[in-house]
This record gives sequence, C-alpha cells and structure tokens, in this order.
Amino acid sequence: MSKDTLTITDNSTGNEVEYPLLKGTLGNPTVDVRALKNDLGYFTFDPGFVSTASCKSAITYIDGEQGILLYRGYPIEELAENCSFLEVAYLLIHGELPNEQELNHFKFEIDDRTVLHESLRVFFDGFHYDAHPMAMMVGVVGSLSAFYHSDLDISDPDNRYICATRMIAKIPAIAAACYRHSIGAPFVYPRVDLDYCENFLNMMFSRPEKRFIEQARSIDETAVKALNLLFILHADHEQNASTSTVRLAGSTGANPYACIAAGIAALWGPAHGGANEAVLSMLKEIGTVERIPEYIAKAKDKDDPFRLMGFGHRVYKNFDPRATIIRQTCHEVLRQSCQPDPLFDLAMALEEYALQDDYFIEKKLYPNVDFYSGIIYKALGIPVDMFTVMFTIARTAGWVAHWLEMTGDAGNVIGRPRQLYVGPSQREVMPLHRR
Ligand code: CMC
Repeated sequence: MSKDTLTITDNSTGNEVEYPLLKGTLGNPTVDVRALKNDLGYFTFDPGFVSTASCKSAITYIDGEQGILLYRGYPIEELAENCSFLEVAYLLIHGELPNEQELNHFKFEIDDRTVLHESLRVFFDGFHYDAHPMAMMVGVVGSLSAFYHSDLDISDPDNRYICATRMIAKIPAIAAACYRHSIGAPFVYPRVDLDYCENFLNMMFSRPEKRFIEQARSIDETAVKALNLLFILHADHEQNASTSTVRLAGSTGANPYACIAAGIAALWGPAHGGANEAVLSMLKEIGTVERIPEYIAKAKDKDDPFRLMGFGHRVYKNFDPRATIIRQTCHEVLRQSCQPDPLFDLAMALEEYALQDDYFIEKKLYPNVDFYSGIIYKALGIPVDMFTVMFTIARTAGWVAHWLEMTGDAGNVIGRPRQLYVGPSQREVMPLHRR
C-alpha cells in the first residue's frame, strides 16, 4: 500500500525513520525532515538550498522545467497582458485581483504615503555624487526604520499593512531621488494624478523648467507600457536570494524597513538583480559583433571566471517565461527608439549566437529576463547603474507580500540554518609569548 512518507535508512546503524511527505497545491512533494536531528542526529547538507523548501508560501509558484510562473495562481503571461503593476502588487499582498473600487482604494492608500519625509530627503546630501544608486538605496531604505520605529507594532495586522503600502509608495520616490542626486538635479515631488509608472518617470525626468509629463498627458506611452510590464515581471519570484533574505531578517522580528534594506543588498549582486547592469557592462566590453566568438569561448572556458551575463537561471532550465514576454517588448521599444544604439544590435547577435551554441544548449542556458530588461531600460533613457534600482522598485511588492505572509503566520520561527563544520577541532589557546 502506498504511503505519503519517505523512509530513510541509516546504513551505519540499520536504523530506519519515516518522514511525512508534504504535498502543496502544485510542485514537488516536500519531505518534512524537521525531526531528523532528534531521530538520527544528522543535519541535511544543501548549499544554495537547491533542494530545500524554507517555508510554506501561497504567493508565487514556479515550474522551472515547464517555464511556468504563477502569481497567486495567475499565469504571468495573462497578468502582463491584462493588468497594471498596482493591480499585481494588490494581488501579491491580498491574494486576489482587485475590482475597480478596491483598486481605487489601493491607489489612494499608496498615493497617501508616497511623499518622503523632508528629513529623509537630506540624507542624500551625505552621499557623494558618484555613489552607486544601489548603495544609496540600501542606506536610505534602511534609514526609513529610524523614521517609523516607535509607532511600529508588527503584531498588529493593520500596522503591518501600513508598513507594506508605505514601502511600495515610497520606493519610486527614493529611487528617483538617487538618480536626481547623482546628476545634481532638484528632487521632484510625487504626483497623485499620475499612475505608478508615470509618476516614477516624472520624478526621474522632469526638470524645473519643463515637466516630463504635462498635465495634458503628453506622455511616452511605449515607455510607460514597457515599464509597467517590466515591473509586473519582476514583482515576485518565490524564494529567491533577496526574498529569502527579507524573510530571514524578518523572522527575527526586525524592523520591516531594515529587512527590505537587507533584501536590496542581496538583490544588488550580479548573480541576482545586478545581472541587468552586468549585461550592459558585458556588451560594452565585447564591443563588436566580430568579438562575440571570443567571449563565447571565454564563457565556456572552465579556467576563465567570465560568464555570459543574462544567461542561465537556477530554476528555469528550458526557458524563462518572463524573457519570452519581454523579448517582444524589447524589439518594440528598440523599433521605436529614435536613438539607434550599436549595443542593441550586438545584444541581438549575441543572443542568436549563444542560442545555437552546443555548450549553452547542453547546459540549458537561455537568456533570462535580465538579458532583455537592461536593454529596454537603456532605450528608455534609464542610466545603466539605475537598472538594479528599477528591479528593486518592482520586487518591493513581492518582498512586502512575503514579509506580510511570514509575520502573519503564527507558526513562524526564527530562520537559523545549521552547518557542516570543517574547521579545527577544539584546541588550547597558547598565551601570546608561547605562539
Ligand atoms: N555563462 C556561462 N556558463 C554558465 C552560465 C553563464 N551565464 N551560467 C551557468 N553556467 C554554467 C556553469 O559554469 C556550470 O557549468 P559546469 O556544470 O560545467 O560546472 C553550469 O552552467 C551550471 O551553472 P551553475 O552556476 O551551477 O547554475 P546555478 O543554477 O547555480 O546558477 C545563475 C544560476 C543565474 C547564477 C547562473 O546561470 C549565472 O551566473 N548566470 C549569469 C548571471 C545572471 O544572468 N543572473 C540573473 C538571473 S535572472 C534574475 C533573477 O531572477 O535574479
């Protein structure tokens, strides 16, 4: 008779223990090994958490083999086709898509929290003009915890919800302020008559003498559409490195803004959200189509640390569904871009070359979402060092949804992995004069 358990035999002693198989709505069954240490005295070893489920979650589902990505059960393709970023943010937080009234109310809640405290704005003066915007993001978002700590009560669901919406509301203003600071331009206050993406573009590009988006809405529809799409595609991605960081920090009961700052730090790395910036740096380094074979050879060389940025993914092994959606927009944006850029042609040639190369085919390395996102951002006039900041704005919706899910779960325990210790055994400290 089949049983929903897994039996582990300790071959050194012959002891057998049986563990329950937990079945989710979709995806691989998960062995509940929490009792393993007590039963057999063993830990499990899984660097990079390749086979480890760190939590239960009802937010996002990914099937890496089939290239499926669902937010709260809805396919990413359908959300990208039919929704605005704020609808998707609402979905991630509340679990359902909003009706019109709910969406209007959500927009009101976001708009109401969008202005930055004037004292927070002066923090930027402490950064040099060439500080990396992600460094400013980590610092300024972390400092929100100093502004909103005394009133904080994370045991209160209403208070938690205010933190979540405040974070989504303020992150575009902080992101735009990073850019404005770097070019020495005055900060632009948010406008509630604009939608989320329009407002961000306005805060980025308006000038004192010339508004980017006029009251009459003379607006670049392609830019807003592309931004909305990119924000939806980047909004969540289940237990990725930055989300896991937010959850780990949050599991201690830490201030939520500090937890989001920790997530931003994790996102910055080139293996994660920093890949979009790294793609553009790589394209610049390659320089011309003729040099593509040389760089493909470097990527394949075991002794060379070079990797083709924007290719490969820990979870997607056939294709990245976000890349499929964004590829088309990438071509649209490039077609409409009035400033042809040789790097775009180079990117398209590199994509074609790698997709036909045996190494990339065998290792199942396909362009991921960030191969294309940087190219689109560049065409929209977003500076290269702001690319990961753009990812940050979008992923904030996912981070706060996970933080809310975790803090609202009565079974939440502090995240505390174990290790396989390989250092020296216990030894005696020699006094300084005898060492
Ligand atoms: N270029 C060349 N070789 C690669 C690449 C690449 N981009 N990615 C993986 N490989 C090779 C790797 O050398 C290894 O070869 P071998 O089996 O001979 O040792 C094999 O493919 C498996 O690689 P891995 O590092 O074990 O795979 P992983 O699942 O741990 O890493 C990854 C996934 C995304 C970190 C990696 O593919 C990578 O570094 N890609 C480039 C950075 C990038 O584009 N990151 C953005 C990911 S999408 C945004 C997000 O969701 O965060």
